[in-house]
Formats: sequence, structure tokens, C-alpha cells
Amino acid sequence: MENKKIVVGNLKSEMGFGELKEYLKIINKEVIDKEVIICPSNIYIPYFLNQRYSVGLQNIHVNEGGPYTGEIRPKQALSMGINFTIVGHSERRIHLKETDEMINSKVIDAVRNNMYVILCIGETLEEKQMLKTDVVLRRQLVNGLNGLSNDMLLNVIVAYEPIFAIGTNEVLKSVEIEKTVAYIKSFVKQIKQYDNIKVFYGGSVNENNIVELNKIKNVDGFLVGGASLNPMKFLKIVNEVIVNND
Ligand code: PGA
Repeated sequence: MENKKIVVGNLKSEMGFGELKEYLKIINKEVIDKEVIICPSNIYIPYFLNQRYSVGLQNIHVNEGGPYTGEIRPKQALSMGINFTIVGHSERRIHLKETDEMINSKVIDAVRNNMYVILCIGETLEEKQMLKTDVVLRRQLVNGLNGLSNDMLLNVIVAYEPIFAIGTNEVLKSVEIEKTVAYIKSFVKQIKQYDNIKVFYGGSVNENNIVELNKIKNVDGFLVGGASLNPMKFLKIVNEVIVNND
């Protein structure tokens, strides 16, 4: 993966088909960088393919075992030219009870199949207030990256998404993000002897705060939820992070 910054749009399970068609009219015309990865709801994926931007999944299933109704496997994604997937988003950890171990299997299997994985980690507000951020991130990193060699880590990006910042407009202060991202990078170096891990920030990134957030030196990209649903807001973010940085 090149060293350019990346913007990921996580469209979650939003938008009806009518809305989607309007969305695509703008996005397919204006988003022309491979460094933008749009992760649509699975049912809409074909509408996003063969454009100038990249497409990713919001989740992936492991390849092993028998049939799994409702799941998508790396081999299927790759057969459609999709080689990015988000794994371990906090909404899945919380609502779908995904454990670190389940997440780790997905990371390993996706990477073994040559996919790029965006592994989400982050603490709750309660954990932060109890000064447990580092402990929580360490646990998620040790477990999430368990069994990955340095070669495999080349295909992994960590997305730091404090849970209380997701969808709330409560962005962390830039100094705090910088400090935590530095911590994540140094911890990965410590446990894996790998000092090239890319770390994104996610959580209420929007068209108003992106100029400030984009100044944080050690952040390699952004994971955008709510603001990626509005094409004009998303374009502003893309322009700031990618187009202006070229
Ligand atoms: P948000 O979501 O930008 O709406 O906070 C980010 C995410 O859930 O990845």
C-alpha cells in the first residue's frame, strides 16, 4: 500500500434505493481517487463497482467451514475486485457481540486471502474516564493481531475509533488523538517488532473539523460514517485529505 492518506466512507446500513441513486449521481462523477474507499451496504455493492474510487466491505466472514447463510467470504469479495474490508467495528462488537477472537479469525482469514483489513479498535467513555484507554487498546491489539506475521501486517490498518465519538459530534481533541495514535503505533512495534502500521482516526469526522484533524501528523487516514452519507460533505473531506495533499 502506498503512503498516501486514505478516506474510508462507511455507509453502514443507511439509505433506501431512491436516496442511493441520487447519492451515486454525485459520488460516481466527483470521487476520482483510489485512496477513497467506499463501504456500502452489501445489497448495494454492485452499484459502486467499476468506478474510479475503491470499494470495501463493512464486515467479512471467514472462508473456512461449511455454508453460512447471509455471510460474505473473502473469495467472493475478491472475485468482484473488492480487496478491502472493515473488521471489528464497535457497532458489531457491541450489538452483534463480536469478540476479539472472532475478529482475529476474520483478520487472519481476510489477510491470508490477500485482502486489506481495517481493524477497528476503541474504548467506551466509561473506560476512558476510568483511565483504561491504553489497557483496552492493548487488549484489542494483542488479540486482534494475534498470529499475524510482519508480512501479514502489511495488509492491516488500525482504525482508532473511540466509541463515544461515533455518531455523536464529540470529536476528541487533536492532541489526544495524536497521543493515542502514537501509543497504538509504538505498542504494535513493541509486540510485533513492526514499525510501519498505519492508523486511521474515526468518530464524528465531518466537513467542519477535517481541516484541523488533517493536521495531525501521525494519522494516516480517516474513517467517516455519518458525513459520508452526504455527498457534498464527503467531497469536502476527500478534497481536504486527498486532493489538497497531492
Ligand atoms: P461517524 O461514524 O463518522 O458517524 O462518527 C464513524 C464510524 O462508525 O466508523
